[in-house]
Amino acid sequence: IRPLRIGMIGAGTVGGGVYEIIMNRLGGSSNKSLAASAGNANNTPVITKICVRDASKSRDFHIDTSATEVVTDVKSIINDSEIDIVVEVMGGTGIAKDAVMESLRQGKSVVTANKALIAENLQEIVSLVDKVNANNVGAKTVKFAYEASVCGGIPIIHTLQSCYKGDIINEVMGICNGTTNYMLGKMEQGVDYDEVLSEAQALGYAEADPTADVEGHDVRAKIAILAKLAFGTTVEVNTIPCMGITNISVVDFEYAKSMGCTIKLVGSAVRQSEFGEHDGALSVYVSPKLVPNGHLLASASGCGNAVAIDSANLGIASFTGPGAGRYPTANSIVADVMRVANNTCIAKPFPLSSNIEIDNDYVSAFY
Ligand code: NAP
Ligand code: HSE
Repeated sequence: IRPLRIGMIGAGTVGGGVYEIIMNRLGGSSNKSLAASAGNANNTPVITKICVRDASKSRDFHIDTSATEVVTDVKSIINDSEIDIVVEVMGGTGIAKDAVMESLRQGKSVVTANKALIAENLQEIVSLVDKVNANNVGAKTVKFAYEASVCGGIPIIHTLQSCYKGDIINEVMGICNGTTNYMLGKMEQGVDYDEVLSEAQALGYAEADPTADVEGHDVRAKIAILAKLAFGTTVEVNTIPCMGITNISVVDFEYAKSMGCTIKLVGSAVRQSEFGEHDGALSVYVSPKLVPNGHLLASASGCGNAVAIDSANLGIASFTGPGAGRYPTANSIVADVMRVANNTCIAKPFPLSSNIEIDNDYVSAFY
């Protein structure tokens, strides 16, 4: 047995956390000589290569260069036959997409935090994983794991993949963006929009281009992923009605307060109901909402996220926790890496499939 070798594409906020957890906290770095000689007796992962844009840039975490090679060409990772798992924490839908797809084609498992990539290419990814594994009969199957892509540290994807097998979900709704939740909380206290956006960026919550956060596009991608997991339906991200927080101002918080409410950016995917039966078309949207102060969603503070799932057997179950930031997100990535390493990762990344009709006109009536 040799150590599990990881090639990591991207080493910024999330990648730095993944590196520190695997190499320092889990002892990956002490496996470096074993990694080189391929003689380890356990399955502890080692990050043997990191791909970044600028190799000379100083970083806010230490890279052990005796264990890890720093490269600037993703092909150096994709084409490295010694690498077992590719961790993609670069972001974007260009180079990142090519790297993820090619890694899967080459028989490498992929762990990613990239919700934009997944939401835009959901069906293509599902088909590719199925195709690679169908051609690999008897050999090791590739896995595609993406727990970090929705709600950062909250294990909501694993929960939806595993814990609702005998249930029927009626609705998934929640706060799925840490940046805007942080911003709205501070704006409620009177802090200026531009100032809080800069703070959220400095804290590592925001996307490289924060437009995705404040315009709601990040939540749109996440709710598309949750809808696929909950209902089996592939929802085209660009068709989801979406409103962000750019038009929210102090006066809105004053009105909200007068009604005993706060304002949250909410993503929702719900099956329309008649006579209490949720058997209609699927409505998916993203919008700021007035939320009563005592409501579960109102309790998410800072970069916290909260998701409520309403289902036939369980009723309403809620999941809360840190939704963005270095270590919560890195924790979800590392948990995925461990599941891939231990072969306990779910084989079909999106287990359900269905053709539930999508009715966006119904939702558009709100706008
Ligand atoms: P980030 O801090 O901007 O890091 C991006 C990394 O990718 C950097 O190391 C950068 O290299 C590298 N990179 C960018 N373009 C590259 C290229 N063309 N070739 C090689 N490397 C390239 O981003 P992040 O916040 O860690 O987010 C990464 C991913 O995680 C995104 O998909 C994001 O949506 C997702 N995510 C983020 C969070 C969060 O809280 N931040 C939470 C959940 C999911 P340099 O360092 O050399 O510039
Ligand atoms: N920019 C995202 C957020 C990162 O603020 O929620 C976590 O997905």
